[in-house]
Amino acid sequence: MADEVFLKLKGIKKSFGGVHALNGVDLEIRRGEIHCLAGENGCGKSTLIKAISGVHRVDEGEIWIEGKLCNKMNPIDAINKGIQVIYQDFAVFPNLTVAENIALNGEVKNKTKLVNWKEIHRVAAEAMAQVGAEIDPDVKLEQLSVANKQMVAICRAIINDAKFLILDEPTTALTAREVEKLWTVVRALKEKGIAVMIVNHKLDEIYQIADRLTILRNGAYVSSGPIHEYDQARFTRDMTGRDISQEKYLPKASEEEIFRVENLSLPGAFKDVSFSVHKGDVLGLTGLLGSGRGEIGEALFGIEPAQSGHIYLNGQEITIKNVADAIHNKIGYVPEDRLTEGLFMDRSILDNTIATSIRKYFHGIKLDKAAMEEATDRWIREIGVVTPSSKPAVRTLSGGNAQKVVISKWLNTDPKLFILNGPTVGVDVGAKSEIHAILRELAQKGIGIIVISDDLPELLQNCNKIVVMRDGRVAAVVDNSIEQKELSDLLMGRAE
Ligand SMILES: Nc1ncnc2c1ncn2[C@@H]1O[C@H](COP(=O)(O)OP(=O)(O)OP(=O)(O)O)[C@@H](O)[C@H]1O
Ligand SMILES: [Mg+2]
Repeated sequence: MADEVFLKLKGIKKSFGGVHALNGVDLEIRRGEIHCLAGENGCGKSTLIKAISGVHRVDEGEIWIEGKLCNKMNPIDAINKGIQVIYQDFAVFPNLTVAENIALNGEVKNKTKLVNWKEIHRVAAEAMAQVGAEIDPDVKLEQLSVANKQMVAICRAIINDAKFLILDEPTTALTAREVEKLWTVVRALKEKGIAVMIVNHKLDEIYQIADRLTILRNGAYVSSGPIHEYDQARFTRDMTGRDISQEKYLPKASEEEIFRVENLSLPGAFKDVSFSVHKGDVLGLTGLLGSGRGEIGEALFGIEPAQSGHIYLNGQEITIKNVADAIHNKIGYVPEDRLTEGLFMDRSILDNTIATSIRKYFHGIKLDKAAMEEATDRWIREIGVVTPSSKPAVRTLSGGNAQKVVISKWLNTDPKLFILNGPTVGVDVGAKSEIHAILRELAQKGIGIIVISDDLPELLQNCNKIVVMRDGRVAAVVDNSIEQKELSDLLMGRAE
């Protein structure tokens, strides 16, 4: 039935300078469906969302909303047509309260001014009841967790009579429980007939929530259909244009110890943590938020050093009291919050890639520019950064491609121990497998690799040894023959 279709896109094209971000996209969104928009980093997902929501004007193609051609929308027009987008930064006002944040957005739509405190509360309470959120309306937004900020953003969206809600990578900063909660809310919206489109790089989450999906590659439409028509092999093939190995990493056991910690403790964070990394090991470090998994990474890089215990690298005991110590010992660290900690957004890919290894390129007082370019080009090629050259500012890259630059930067320092916290958050399946192939190669060469993550399928495929943290302690060390369910039980501390 024609009126079941809320949005229809035909042959959408959009370029930035010489870059064809969108190069022929078709998309159909039906009322009350949960639609996943999938594709590799830089394939144009976020750009397409901006086109649908009136932020970008398209160069070519047709945007049909409820049977009307709507090519010339601005963002307010899009809101009036019931289109609401929740970007990764949520665009909420940190200094206002929960209630104010929710109610204020309604003013835009209804062109009324809510000055009355009671009215603001009533509107906010109604919106929260609709999604089943229970958040204190008088708390300032800046005090909320990421998950609750997102709930407020969703509440804001639905009081504007949203018919179509778009979530761009909504789960990147959420814990497993928070993701469950988000899916409950999304299903409730679906029940009300609201269409929801989600961009997400985690395949297992897509299988949990999506009814249908559309896949893009290099800015163009590849395929679309109900989720049950896509097994994992087809899914990844459509996204990447090639077959991605699903094989588990099983290196030969080696006696050669690269790295070891003994009874590492930091009060309030972790206690008596011991584990070792042998040659060839890609070690996974996992646990729920608050289990101490991230804190161990930060301690080993000297951000918040451990207070007691021993650290051995290549047979020698080392002391790490600060970041300078870690760098001196050739420890590399890819932080979790890459956009604030990892990159100079306005500098070029090249500047960022050589930022931490610039010393290598000095010959006397002269910089060896050719060597710098060669190294950067090599990483761009090997990790597959989607960019015409090493010159563009990192700000112009898509999210996943920016993450690849962070990884390049640390690889370029020739680390002896490489710690990656959430290395592939926001990275597409193809690039994930490329990054993991590089990590394996490094492990085989005798570089210690520690991957901190809560992405269980990824850990099971790529780490041959997994340290499970719970309440600041090592709860178990397992190999990757364990089932995902078992691993998840270990994380949660559920009895067998
Ligand atoms: N304002 C802009 N100026 C120049 N290039 C841009 C701009 N916005 C996007 N691009 C380019 O358009 C392409 C598509 O980017 P987009 O952000 O839509 O990708 P994406 O599919 O959302 O990727 P990711 O999964 O990494 O978030 C990329 O090559 C990107 O560098
Ligand atoms: Mg994006």
